[in-house]
Amino acid sequence: MNVSMVSRMSSPATSSDREKVVSKLPGWLRQNLKVRAAQRGIEIQAAVEEGISAWCDLASATAAVDTAGADSFATFLPPGQWEGFRRIAADRRVSLIQGLAQSVQLWLETHPAPDIERPSITRRIVVCNQKGGVGKTAITAGLGEALAEDPDTLQPVRVAKALTKALRASEAHPDEAEPDDDPLDIENLPGPGMRVLLVDFDPQCHLTNQLGAAPLPMNGDSLTNHMAGDPKGDLGDLIVSIDDDTFNGRLHLLPACNDAFLLDVRLSAVRAREAALERALAPLEADYDVIIVDCPPSLGLSMDAAAYYGRRRDGETPGQSGALIVVQAEDSSADAYELLTTQIDDLRGDLQVDIDYLGIVVNLYDSRRGYIATSSLQGWVDIKDPRVVGLIGDLKEQKEAVRVKEPLLSYAPKSQQAVGMRALAREVL
Ligand SMILES: Nc1ncnc2c1ncn2[C@@H]1O[C@H](COP(=O)(O)OP(=O)(O)OP(=O)(O)O)[C@@H](O)[C@H]1O
Ligand SMILES: [Mg+2]
Repeated sequence: MNVSMVSRMSSPATSSDREKVVSKLPGWLRQNLKVRAAQRGIEIQAAVEEGISAWCDLASATAAVDTAGADSFATFLPPGQWEGFRRIAADRRVSLIQGLAQSVQLWLETHPAPDIERPSITRRIVVCNQKGGVGKTAITAGLGEALAEDPDTLQPVRVAKALTKALRASEAHPDEAEPDDDPLDIENLPGPGMRVLLVDFDPQCHLTNQLGAAPLPMNGDSLTNHMAGDPKGDLGDLIVSIDDDTFNGRLHLLPACNDAFLLDVRLSAVRAREAALERALAPLEADYDVIIVDCPPSLGLSMDAAAYYGRRRDGETPGQSGALIVVQAEDSSADAYELLTTQIDDLRGDLQVDIDYLGIVVNLYDSRRGYIATSSLQGWVDIKDPRVVGLIGDLKEQKEAVRVKEPLLSYAPKSQQAVGMRALAREVL
């Protein structure tokens, strides 16, 4: 008997002191049970046990549940519970299937989905690295999508231990490290349901284009205008929603405009220019739990403004907001990393602000490239502060999603990359 066949959520196997019960449950009820148990972080068998126990304690049966189309459902209960339930069901003249359905329904009604915990200060994540093509835009989009996913739907997530394992494997056997090969390290979890704004802060407009939106026209309003203190309207009016069932109106994008190429020039005339991005985005914050800024591959004034926007605010816990650095598992990334962290450290010193690092994401990892990839990965892991919070493989789905201009997590929700983005979201949360 193997409990993990039924549910492999947390807590140790209890097969030895439980008995297997096979009955029937309609598919919709089984699905609701599965989702709610995951939302509340409890095993399905424990939820059924609680439901049956509560149902048996009632004075009479509850309202009849539609059990049409019920099919096989197996679970594990404490010894004797099913026998007691069977007697009570007989007394109440309900079938075992109806009694079980009522028990599960009762548990669902008394155990509602937990409220989503929203940060009191909107979290700001600045995705940066002045080295081009390392995957800043891909990570911005994937992370935002993962944070906005539906809290009532389960999606596969690679849990943190899998990352740790891959890293350890790369230490022990540099040739065998695979970040994403073991399906047993994948867990089905509900989406975080965050309200997310993605800010395309790069004049190349890559994020805007990849998500199928249009760059803002040159002669209209733009983030650059707002930062330069020359707005033509509300910045919020420029925002578009990335529509897809799984994001259900929670994933928004502030598109870029080519005028951002002139940002550094226009900022040079602005007072306290490092605060320009903050001033521009502040009116939007009330509508979002998380704002993610996709930085351009450069180290200019705009990078200063982005880093400053990610600084720790009064009353904010360390590590809630800050810089997320995307690197590639190859040696040439290391120099770029030094430059970037030097600039951020200088800004910290010059302006006397705290800018936290949220971690390093190693992207485009491919262990088949052998020693260069694995030893570089090890190099990133060895930095330790900040630590590696994400490892994303070099896989085709990302490029395909870009080609068809769809969010990766809608285009390939079960892909290893999507699974990795969800793991990253949970590391950053
Ligand atoms: N994990 C991945 N697997 C496969 N392809 C990837 C992955 N990450 C990014 N890419 C692809 O690599 C290219 C560069 O990625 P991306 O645009 O995200 O990098 P970037 O750092 O934002 O670049 P830039 O510095 O120009 O802004 C894109 O074509 C993207 O689709
Ligand atoms: Mg980019």
